[in-house]
Amino acid sequence: MKDVEPPEGLTARPLALADAAAVAEVTAAEEVHEVGEGDTTEEDIVAEWQRPSYDLASSTLGLFAGDRLVAYADLVRPDFGYTGVHPDDHGRGLRDTLFGWLETTARARGGALISTQVPGGGDADRRLEARGYRVRWTAWDLELPAGTAIVTQPLPAGHALRDARADEHELVWTVVEDAFSEWRDRQPMADFGAMVWGRPGHEPWNLRLCTDAAGEAVGATHVYLSGDAGYVARIAVRRDRRGHGLARAMLADAFALARSHGAVRCYLSTDSRTGALGLYEKVGMVVTSTWVNRALDL
Ligand SMILES: CC(C)(COP(=O)(O)OP(=O)(O)OC[C@H]1O[C@@H](n2cnc3c(N)ncnc32)[C@H](O)[C@@H]1OP(=O)(O)O)[C@@H](O)C(=O)NCCC(=O)NCCS
Repeated sequence: MKDVEPPEGLTARPLALADAAAVAEVTAAEEVHEVGEGDTTEEDIVAEWQRPSYDLASSTLGLFAGDRLVAYADLVRPDFGYTGVHPDDHGRGLRDTLFGWLETTARARGGALISTQVPGGGDADRRLEARGYRVRWTAWDLELPAGTAIVTQPLPAGHALRDARADEHELVWTVVEDAFSEWRDRQPMADFGAMVWGRPGHEPWNLRLCTDAAGEAVGATHVYLSGDAGYVARIAVRRDRRGHGLARAMLADAFALARSHGAVRCYLSTDSRTGALGLYEKVGMVVTSTWVNRALDL
Protein backbone atom coordinates (compact mmCIF):
# COMPACT_ATOMS: atom_id res chain seq x y z
CA MET A 1 0.00 0.00 0.00
CA LYS A 2 1.51 3.29 -1.10
CA ASP A 3 2.18 5.85 1.63
CA VAL A 4 -0.94 5.35 3.69
CA GLU A 5 -0.95 5.63 7.42
CA PRO A 6 -4.47 4.40 8.22
CA PRO A 7 -6.15 6.55 10.85
CA GLU A 8 -6.33 5.11 14.37
CA GLY A 9 -8.43 1.95 14.58
CA LEU A 10 -8.70 1.41 10.81
CA THR A 11 -6.88 -0.92 8.45
CA ALA A 12 -6.00 -0.16 4.83
CA ARG A 13 -5.95 -2.57 1.91
CA PRO A 14 -6.67 -2.55 -1.85
CA LEU A 15 -10.25 -3.38 -2.79
CA ALA A 16 -11.28 -6.66 -4.42
CA LEU A 17 -14.26 -7.51 -6.62
CA ALA A 18 -16.07 -8.86 -3.53
CA ASP A 19 -16.02 -5.30 -2.10
CA ALA A 20 -18.16 -3.89 -4.96
CA ALA A 21 -21.42 -4.07 -2.97
CA ALA A 22 -19.83 -2.35 0.04
CA VAL A 23 -18.40 0.40 -2.19
CA ALA A 24 -21.83 0.96 -3.75
CA GLU A 25 -23.38 1.09 -0.26
CA VAL A 26 -20.90 3.68 1.05
CA THR A 27 -21.29 5.75 -2.14
CA ALA A 28 -25.09 5.64 -2.12
CA ALA A 29 -25.24 6.42 1.64
CA GLU A 30 -23.02 9.43 1.06
CA GLU A 31 -25.11 10.56 -1.94
CA VAL A 32 -28.26 10.41 0.21
CA HIS A 33 -26.48 12.41 2.89
CA GLU A 34 -25.04 15.02 0.50
CA VAL A 35 -27.66 15.42 -2.25
CA GLY A 36 -30.75 13.62 -0.94
CA GLU A 37 -30.74 10.65 -3.32
CA GLY A 38 -28.41 7.66 -3.61
CA ASP A 39 -28.22 6.24 -7.13
CA THR A 40 -24.98 4.23 -7.22
CA THR A 41 -25.45 0.47 -7.49
CA GLU A 42 -23.17 -2.58 -7.35
CA GLU A 43 -23.58 -2.96 -11.14
CA ASP A 44 -22.14 0.56 -11.63
CA ILE A 45 -19.06 -0.36 -9.64
CA VAL A 46 -18.55 -3.76 -11.31
CA ALA A 47 -18.96 -2.23 -14.81
CA GLU A 48 -16.18 0.31 -14.08
CA TRP A 49 -13.93 -2.28 -12.44
CA GLN A 50 -14.17 -4.79 -15.28
CA ARG A 51 -12.72 -2.41 -17.92
CA PRO A 52 -9.66 -4.11 -19.43
CA SER A 53 -7.54 -0.95 -19.09
CA TYR A 54 -8.16 -0.81 -15.32
CA ASP A 55 -6.33 -2.64 -12.54
CA LEU A 56 -8.45 -2.86 -9.39
CA ALA A 57 -5.79 -3.73 -6.82
CA SER A 58 -3.38 -0.93 -7.75
CA SER A 59 -6.17 1.63 -8.30
CA THR A 60 -8.04 1.39 -5.01
CA LEU A 61 -7.64 1.94 -1.32
CA GLY A 62 -10.19 0.71 1.22
CA LEU A 63 -10.23 1.80 4.86
CA PHE A 64 -11.91 -0.74 7.09
CA ALA A 65 -13.10 -0.91 10.70
CA GLY A 66 -12.87 -4.67 11.19
CA ASP A 67 -14.76 -6.04 8.16
CA ARG A 68 -16.78 -2.90 7.55
CA LEU A 69 -15.78 -0.61 4.68
CA VAL A 70 -15.67 2.89 6.12
CA ALA A 71 -14.11 4.82 3.24
CA TYR A 72 -12.42 4.25 -0.11
CA ALA A 73 -10.53 5.93 -2.92
CA ASP A 74 -10.70 4.70 -6.52
CA LEU A 75 -8.41 6.02 -9.27
CA VAL A 76 -10.86 5.06 -12.03
CA ARG A 77 -8.74 6.71 -14.73
CA PRO A 78 -5.11 7.87 -14.59
CA ASP A 79 -6.24 11.49 -14.02
CA PHE A 80 -9.59 10.99 -12.27
CA GLY A 81 -10.60 9.41 -8.99
CA TYR A 82 -13.54 9.02 -6.65
CA THR A 83 -13.59 9.00 -2.88
CA GLY A 84 -16.32 7.88 -0.52
CA VAL A 85 -16.66 8.17 3.23
CA HIS A 86 -19.63 6.64 5.02
CA PRO A 87 -21.70 9.47 6.57
CA ASP A 88 -21.30 7.87 10.03
CA ASP A 89 -17.56 8.41 9.66
CA HIS A 90 -17.58 12.00 8.44
CA GLY A 91 -15.56 14.41 10.57
CA ARG A 92 -12.64 12.00 11.13
CA GLY A 93 -10.39 13.60 8.52
CA LEU A 94 -10.60 10.52 6.27
CA ARG A 95 -11.21 12.56 3.12
CA ASP A 96 -7.74 14.07 3.24
CA THR A 97 -6.19 10.62 3.63
CA LEU A 98 -8.06 9.53 0.49
CA PHE A 99 -7.24 12.63 -1.56
CA GLY A 100 -3.61 12.28 -0.50
CA TRP A 101 -3.59 8.66 -1.69
CA LEU A 102 -5.15 9.58 -5.05
CA GLU A 103 -2.55 12.31 -5.56
CA THR A 104 0.37 10.03 -4.63
CA THR A 105 -0.88 7.17 -6.78
CA ALA A 106 -1.58 9.35 -9.84
CA ARG A 107 1.82 11.02 -9.45
CA ALA A 108 3.58 7.65 -9.17
CA ARG A 109 2.01 6.70 -12.52
CA GLY A 110 3.49 9.78 -14.13
CA GLY A 111 0.22 11.73 -14.31
CA ALA A 112 0.37 15.51 -14.67
CA LEU A 113 -3.00 16.09 -13.04
CA ILE A 114 -5.52 14.50 -10.67
CA SER A 115 -9.22 15.40 -10.68
CA THR A 116 -12.41 14.36 -8.94
CA GLN A 117 -16.09 15.29 -8.84
CA VAL A 118 -17.96 16.10 -5.64
CA PRO A 119 -21.22 17.82 -4.62
CA GLY A 120 -20.82 21.58 -5.07
CA GLY A 121 -20.38 23.52 -1.84
CA GLY A 122 -20.16 20.44 0.38
CA ASP A 123 -17.47 19.33 2.78
CA ALA A 124 -15.45 17.44 0.12
CA ASP A 125 -15.59 20.51 -2.16
CA ARG A 126 -14.18 22.68 0.64
CA ARG A 127 -11.44 20.11 1.41
CA LEU A 128 -10.41 20.08 -2.26
CA GLU A 129 -10.32 23.86 -2.41
CA ALA A 130 -8.11 23.90 0.69
CA ARG A 131 -5.74 21.42 -1.00
CA GLY A 132 -5.38 23.77 -3.99
CA TYR A 133 -7.74 22.06 -6.46
CA ARG A 134 -9.22 24.41 -9.08
CA VAL A 135 -12.74 24.20 -10.50
CA ARG A 136 -12.81 22.88 -14.07
CA TRP A 137 -16.51 22.49 -14.74
CA THR A 138 -19.96 22.11 -13.17
CA ALA A 139 -21.99 18.92 -13.49
CA TRP A 140 -25.65 18.22 -12.81
CA ASP A 141 -27.92 15.29 -12.11
CA LEU A 142 -31.30 15.79 -13.74
CA GLU A 143 -34.50 13.88 -13.18
CA LEU A 144 -37.72 13.33 -15.06
CA PRO A 145 -39.85 13.14 -11.92
CA ALA A 146 -42.33 10.31 -11.36
CA GLY A 147 -45.59 10.98 -13.17
CA THR A 148 -44.18 13.64 -15.50
CA ALA A 149 -45.67 13.35 -18.98
CA ILE A 150 -43.08 12.38 -21.58
CA VAL A 151 -42.85 15.09 -24.26
CA THR A 152 -43.00 13.12 -27.48
CA GLN A 153 -41.07 14.25 -30.51
CA PRO A 154 -41.63 12.73 -33.95
CA LEU A 155 -38.56 11.47 -35.76
CA PRO A 156 -37.70 13.11 -39.10
CA ALA A 157 -39.10 11.25 -42.13
CA GLY A 158 -37.55 7.83 -42.74
CA HIS A 159 -35.77 7.72 -39.38
CA ALA A 160 -36.28 4.85 -36.95
CA LEU A 161 -35.32 3.89 -33.39
CA ARG A 162 -34.67 0.27 -32.49
CA ASP A 163 -32.51 -1.99 -30.31
CA ALA A 164 -28.93 -2.24 -31.55
CA ARG A 165 -28.00 -5.78 -32.54
CA ALA A 166 -24.91 -7.47 -31.09
CA ASP A 167 -23.20 -7.22 -34.51
CA GLU A 168 -23.71 -3.42 -34.33
CA HIS A 169 -21.77 -2.90 -31.10
CA GLU A 170 -18.74 -1.49 -32.86
CA LEU A 171 -20.99 0.87 -34.81
CA VAL A 172 -22.62 2.09 -31.58
CA TRP A 173 -19.20 2.62 -30.02
CA THR A 174 -18.12 4.65 -33.07
CA VAL A 175 -21.22 6.86 -33.06
CA VAL A 176 -21.07 7.49 -29.30
CA GLU A 177 -17.33 7.97 -28.97
CA ASP A 178 -17.08 10.16 -32.11
CA ALA A 179 -19.59 12.48 -30.40
CA PHE A 180 -18.19 12.37 -26.86
CA SER A 181 -14.58 12.71 -28.01
CA GLU A 182 -15.47 16.24 -29.14
CA TRP A 183 -15.04 17.23 -25.50
CA ARG A 184 -13.29 14.35 -23.69
CA ASP A 185 -10.83 11.52 -24.48
CA ARG A 186 -12.14 8.70 -26.65
CA GLN A 187 -12.83 5.52 -24.66
CA PRO A 188 -11.33 2.35 -26.20
CA MET A 189 -13.94 -0.10 -27.46
CA ALA A 190 -13.00 -2.81 -24.95
CA ASP A 191 -13.56 -0.43 -22.02
CA PHE A 192 -16.75 0.91 -23.61
CA GLY A 193 -18.02 -2.65 -24.01
CA ALA A 194 -17.31 -3.46 -20.36
CA MET A 195 -19.44 -0.48 -19.35
CA VAL A 196 -22.21 -0.98 -21.91
CA TRP A 197 -23.04 -4.45 -23.32
CA GLY A 198 -20.83 -6.11 -20.67
CA ARG A 199 -22.55 -4.32 -17.79
CA PRO A 200 -24.09 -6.81 -15.34
CA GLY A 201 -27.75 -7.30 -16.28
CA HIS A 202 -27.43 -5.75 -19.76
CA GLU A 203 -30.47 -6.35 -21.99
CA PRO A 204 -30.90 -5.59 -25.72
CA TRP A 205 -33.35 -2.71 -25.04
CA ASN A 206 -30.60 -0.88 -23.12
CA LEU A 207 -28.85 0.05 -26.36
CA ARG A 208 -30.92 1.99 -28.90
CA LEU A 209 -29.84 2.92 -32.39
CA CYS A 210 -31.31 5.76 -34.44
CA THR A 211 -31.10 5.22 -38.21
CA ASP A 212 -31.86 7.57 -41.10
CA ALA A 213 -33.85 6.90 -44.28
CA ALA A 214 -30.84 5.17 -45.82
CA GLY A 215 -30.50 2.90 -42.76
CA GLU A 216 -27.32 4.62 -41.60
CA ALA A 217 -26.67 4.97 -37.85
CA VAL A 218 -27.04 8.62 -36.84
CA GLY A 219 -27.49 8.36 -33.08
CA ALA A 220 -27.34 6.00 -30.11
CA THR A 221 -28.67 5.87 -26.54
CA HIS A 222 -27.55 3.72 -23.60
CA VAL A 223 -30.34 3.45 -21.03
CA TYR A 224 -30.86 0.98 -18.20
CA LEU A 225 -32.73 0.37 -14.98
CA SER A 226 -31.03 1.40 -11.77
CA GLY A 227 -33.23 0.53 -8.81
CA ASP A 228 -36.62 2.16 -9.47
CA ALA A 229 -35.17 4.57 -12.02
CA GLY A 230 -34.29 4.59 -15.68
CA TYR A 231 -30.80 5.97 -16.20
CA VAL A 232 -29.73 7.47 -19.52
CA ALA A 233 -26.01 6.79 -19.35
CA ARG A 234 -25.10 7.92 -22.87
CA ILE A 235 -26.82 9.82 -25.67
CA ALA A 236 -25.14 10.90 -28.88
CA VAL A 237 -26.15 12.22 -32.29
CA ARG A 238 -23.81 12.31 -35.27
CA ARG A 239 -22.45 15.81 -35.64
CA ASP A 240 -23.85 16.42 -39.13
CA ARG A 241 -27.37 15.42 -37.97
CA ARG A 242 -27.72 17.66 -34.94
CA GLY A 243 -30.43 20.24 -34.38
CA HIS A 244 -33.24 18.21 -35.98
CA GLY A 245 -34.78 16.96 -32.75
CA LEU A 246 -33.15 13.52 -32.84
CA ALA A 247 -31.91 13.71 -29.25
CA ARG A 248 -35.32 14.82 -28.03
CA ALA A 249 -36.94 11.86 -29.79
CA MET A 250 -34.25 9.50 -28.46
CA LEU A 251 -34.79 10.76 -24.89
CA ALA A 252 -38.56 10.31 -25.16
CA ASP A 253 -37.93 6.77 -26.45
CA ALA A 254 -35.51 6.00 -23.61
CA PHE A 255 -37.88 7.35 -20.93
CA ALA A 256 -40.84 5.39 -22.34
CA LEU A 257 -38.82 2.19 -22.58
CA ALA A 258 -37.49 2.56 -19.02
CA ARG A 259 -41.03 3.15 -17.74
CA SER A 260 -42.33 0.11 -19.63
CA HIS A 261 -39.63 -1.90 -17.81
CA GLY A 262 -40.74 -0.59 -14.41
CA ALA A 263 -38.92 2.72 -13.92
CA VAL A 264 -40.81 5.23 -11.79
CA ARG A 265 -38.54 8.15 -12.60
CA CYS A 266 -35.70 8.71 -15.05
CA TYR A 267 -32.43 10.52 -14.56
CA LEU A 268 -29.10 11.35 -16.16
CA SER A 269 -25.95 13.30 -15.52
CA THR A 270 -24.41 16.01 -17.65
CA ASP A 271 -21.87 18.77 -17.30
CA SER A 272 -21.02 22.20 -18.61
CA ARG A 273 -18.59 20.81 -21.24
CA THR A 274 -21.48 19.32 -23.25
CA GLY A 275 -23.75 22.37 -23.44
CA ALA A 276 -26.70 19.97 -23.38
CA LEU A 277 -28.31 21.10 -20.09
CA GLY A 278 -30.94 23.11 -22.02
CA LEU A 279 -31.89 20.04 -24.04
CA TYR A 280 -32.73 18.07 -20.92
CA GLU A 281 -34.67 20.93 -19.36
CA LYS A 282 -36.68 21.24 -22.59
CA VAL A 283 -37.88 17.64 -22.27
CA GLY A 284 -39.14 18.26 -18.72
CA MET A 285 -36.14 17.21 -16.65
CA VAL A 286 -35.23 19.15 -13.52
CA VAL A 287 -31.84 19.58 -11.87
CA THR A 288 -31.70 17.55 -8.65
CA SER A 289 -28.08 18.12 -7.66
CA THR A 290 -25.08 20.18 -8.71
CA TRP A 291 -21.54 18.83 -8.69
CA VAL A 292 -18.18 20.35 -9.27
CA ASN A 293 -15.15 18.89 -11.05
CA ARG A 294 -11.91 20.02 -9.46
CA ALA A 295 -8.34 19.28 -10.46
CA LEU A 296 -4.86 19.63 -9.04
CA ASP A 297 -1.68 19.83 -11.14
CA LEU A 298 0.79 17.25 -9.85
C1 LIG B 1 -26.35 16.63 -27.03
C2 LIG B 1 -26.73 16.01 -28.37
C3 LIG B 1 -27.08 14.52 -28.17
C4 LIG B 1 -27.98 16.76 -28.89
O1 LIG B 1 -28.42 16.16 -30.11
P1 LIG B 1 -29.43 16.89 -31.13
O2 LIG B 1 -30.08 15.83 -31.93
O3 LIG B 1 -28.72 17.95 -31.87
O4 LIG B 1 -30.47 17.58 -30.15
P2 LIG B 1 -31.94 18.06 -30.57
O5 LIG B 1 -31.92 18.50 -31.99
O6 LIG B 1 -32.94 17.03 -30.19
O7 LIG B 1 -32.07 19.32 -29.63
C5 LIG B 1 -33.19 19.56 -28.87
C6 LIG B 1 -33.09 20.92 -28.26
O8 LIG B 1 -31.98 21.05 -27.37
C7 LIG B 1 -31.12 22.07 -27.78
N1 LIG B 1 -29.75 21.57 -27.74
C8 LIG B 1 -29.32 20.39 -28.15
N2 LIG B 1 -28.01 20.27 -27.97
C9 LIG B 1 -27.60 21.42 -27.44
C10 LIG B 1 -26.36 21.91 -27.06
N3 LIG B 1 -25.24 21.18 -27.18
N4 LIG B 1 -26.30 23.15 -26.54
C11 LIG B 1 -27.44 23.91 -26.43
N5 LIG B 1 -28.66 23.48 -26.79
C12 LIG B 1 -28.72 22.26 -27.29
C13 LIG B 1 -31.46 22.41 -29.21
O9 LIG B 1 -31.28 23.78 -29.45
C14 LIG B 1 -32.89 21.99 -29.32
O10 LIG B 1 -33.75 23.02 -28.97
P3 LIG B 1 -34.78 23.60 -30.07
O11 LIG B 1 -35.53 22.41 -30.61
O12 LIG B 1 -35.63 24.53 -29.30
O13 LIG B 1 -33.91 24.25 -31.10
C15 LIG B 1 -25.60 16.15 -29.41
O14 LIG B 1 -25.22 17.51 -29.47
C16 LIG B 1 -24.38 15.29 -29.13
O15 LIG B 1 -24.31 14.12 -29.52
N6 LIG B 1 -23.35 15.87 -28.46
C17 LIG B 1 -22.11 15.17 -28.18
C18 LIG B 1 -22.30 14.07 -27.14
C19 LIG B 1 -22.86 14.65 -25.87
O16 LIG B 1 -22.37 15.63 -25.35
N7 LIG B 1 -23.92 14.00 -25.36
C20 LIG B 1 -24.62 14.45 -24.18
C21 LIG B 1 -23.80 14.13 -22.98
S1 LIG B 1 -24.65 14.44 -21.45
